[in-house]
Amino acid sequence: MRGGARCGRGATTRAGRRSSRARPAATERIPGRSRPPPGRGTASEGAALFARHCAACHGKDARGGSAEELAGATRPLNTPAADKTVGSYWPYATTLFDFIRRAKPMAAPGTLNADEVYALSAWLLHINGVIAADAVMDARTLPAVRMPNRDGFIRIEAN
Ligand code: HEC
Repeated sequence: MRGGARCGRGATTRAGRRSSRARPAATERIPGRSRPPPGRGTASEGAALFARHCAACHGKDARGGSAEELAGATRPLNTPAADKTVGSYWPYATTLFDFIRRAKPMAAPGTLNADEVYALSAWLLHINGVIAADAVMDARTLPAVRMPNRDGFIRIEAN
């Protein structure tokens, strides 16, 4: 029902006004308001999953390929052509989890189970220097991750 309503609004083409509604629901989520699902994963589990499902587009070490880089930022955010990676830019780890869960892998979204999404999130957070190699990501630890750019955004009320 909710999904249908969302699709209906997205399909409306009233020049610009409704266009943001056509985006995937992930961008509309307010991080921290909904609890991630049960499950768990670590960076070492995530490394193998990334090689299998993601590296073809994002590169072996997530440094970019045909798709954008997800790690290894060298140009700071306050410089031209800044590197907006998971580690340098994303304010919430829960958004990363939600995005992977809904949108990835690109050709088969929704096919990864919660453990796999926790593991992929753990690996991406680890290679970005945000969490330790052996940190377990689950419904309790993931929302508690403090992202480096957490305070880099200004809250704007849309309505
Ligand atoms: C077929 C190519 C392809 C595969 C495979 C793929 N991606 Fe992507 N990914 C993309 C493209 C293209 C984008 C940019 C467009 C978008 O946001 O959808 C992207 C965007 C992303 C982003 C957002 C980057 C940002 O900063 O906006 C993340 C995170 C991500 N991918 C993670 C993954 C993970 C994890 C996997 C494996 C489970 C994966 N991708 C597999 C092509 C791919």
